[in-house]
Amino acid sequence: MQFGDTLPPRREKSALLGIAQGNINTRALSYPQHFFLLTGAELIAMSDKLDKDSFTSSAGPRMGTILIKQFENTAHRTQVIALWQGVFGYHTAHNRPSLAIDKKLAVADDLFFVALMEDVVVGTAMAGYDGHRGWIYSVAVAPSYRNRGIGTQLVLHAERALSSKGCMKINLQILQTNKSVSSFYSSLGYAVEERVSMSKLIGENIPAA
Ligand SMILES: CC(C)(COP(=O)(O)OP(=O)(O)OC[C@H]1O[C@@H](n2cnc3c(N)ncnc32)[C@H](O)[C@@H]1OP(=O)(O)O)[C@@H](O)C(=O)NCCC(=O)NCCS
Repeated sequence: MQFGDTLPPRREKSALLGIAQGNINTRALSYPQHFFLLTGAELIAMSDKLDKDSFTSSAGPRMGTILIKQFENTAHRTQVIALWQGVFGYHTAHNRPSLAIDKKLAVADDLFFVALMEDVVVGTAMAGYDGHRGWIYSVAVAPSYRNRGIGTQLVLHAERALSSKGCMKINLQILQTNKSVSSFYSSLGYAVEERVSMSKLIGENIPAA
């Protein structure tokens, strides 16, 4: 099943997707003006048309269906590395994309997702769940595919996966230098918490480049 043929303008589409996929509270609050545009019957009809793992988008240079799938090492590794290097420009040894991918696959938790347009990786999202908190990492969309809802779909997909594991609270971190992206997460129901984030590298587990 595919999302409808004709997409409403982007904001409305985001609201519809969020509501139909079960985030009524957060999405409705984020988009109150759009929530009231729909009747209950319309919502049900829209919900019936949605597939959790695919949606039609006008993303990128041409129209197409975006699929969100589990990362597959053979098919996606090279593309994901290129995407992350382009988007995040990782320079630190522990963030090396190839290492991050290997470490994630070793955990085998099925929480690493790619957005595909005709087998081309156009976005990623990684999540983690430790039994106490869920985390979302590495949300990235290729620049020419942005602002068409792909990032939103990746986060919602990761949220569903975490929720299905029993997760009650999802955290994420934003670099100080990337503060403006907080409005993206705010639109998905995330709020800034007064916390100081601390970390420590475990050098013995970080292979030399
Ligand atoms: C953040 C990112 C994943 C969003 O992807 P996307 O596919 O463009 O997101 P969507 O199309 O679903 O956007 C949803 C909303 O968030 C807003 N938004 C998206 N990216 C944003 C950004 N970087 N800063 C502020 N707002 C942003 C959009 O304008 C849209 O708002 P609207 O519905 O009010 O118009 C993408 O911009 C990206 O890859 N950025 C670089 C990597 C990054 O910063 N990742 C987050 C790490 S914490």
